[in-house]
Amino acid sequence: MASADRTYDDVKKNPALISVTTAKEKIALYDGWTAYQQDMDILDYKGPCYAANSIAKHFSGDHETAIVLDVACGTGEVAKEMKKIGFNHFVGVDGSKSMMEGAQKTGLYRDLKLCVLGEQDLPVEKGSFDLALMIGALSVDMVCVRVLRQICEACKTGGFIVMTTRHGPDDLVYTAELHREQKQMEADGLWSCVNITRVENWLKSITAEPGFIPGSVYIYRKL
Ligand SMILES: C[S@@+](CC[C@H](N)C(=O)[O-])C[C@H]1O[C@@H](n2cnc3c(N)ncnc32)[C@H](O)[C@@H]1O
Repeated sequence: MASADRTYDDVKKNPALISVTTAKEKIALYDGWTAYQQDMDILDYKGPCYAANSIAKHFSGDHETAIVLDVACGTGEVAKEMKKIGFNHFVGVDGSKSMMEGAQKTGLYRDLKLCVLGEQDLPVEKGSFDLALMIGALSVDMVCVRVLRQICEACKTGGFIVMTTRHGPDDLVYTAELHREQKQMEADGLWSCVNITRVENWLKSITAEPGFIPGSVYIYRKL
C-alpha cells in the first residue's frame, strides 16, 4: 500500500520484488502493486532515464517523427523520459492492466496493448517501428529472452532496439542467457551491436547485501 512513511525495509519485503516462477504470477503481483512508483523511488531506479540518455547519444533518426514501441511499458515512465528528448509517437505493450492504466493516464501513447510476453505473440505489426524499447523487464521471472526476436521483427530495417537488464547476484544465469541470445541474433544476421553502457548504481539491492547492484543499457540496430 502506498503511504507517506513507506521505508526501504518495507520495499525489501515486497513480494513483487522477490522472484516467482512464472511471468503470469509476476504480472499478478504488478497488478496489485499500488506503491510501485514510490518503491521505485526508494530503490533509486532510474532505468528510463539511463535508457533515454543512451538513446539521445546513439539514435541517429529524427526524434519527432520516430514511431516508438515501448515493450513492458509499465506506468509510462520511459515515454515520459523520451518525450523530454523530443519523441512523440508511442505504442505501449504490457501484461499488467493496472500498470498500463498508469501509462494511459500519461496521455502519451497512441495505442496500448495487453499481452503476456513469452506466452502470447507481441501484438504489433512486423517492420513498423523506428525504435523498440524494453526497459526494466528483462529478468528471470519477467520476459524470456526469446521475445527479443519478436521485438527485432517489429522494427523497420535500420531501426534501433534498446534494452536494459540488471546484474544482481540472482541474475547471473539470466544475464548469461541474454548475452548468448544477443550474440546468436548477431550471428544470425538479425542485428548488430551499437553500444553497451554499464551503470554501476542501477538499483538499490533488496538482498542482505547493502548498496547498489549494477545494470546495463544495450543498443542494437536491426539489419
Ligand atoms: C519494472 S516494470 C518497468 C516498467 C517500465 N518499462 C519502466 O522502466 O519504468 C516491469 C514491467 O514489465 C511488465 N512485465 C513483466 N513481465 C511481463 C511479461 N511477461 N509480459 C508483459 N509484461 C510484463 C510488468 O507488468 C511491469 O509493468
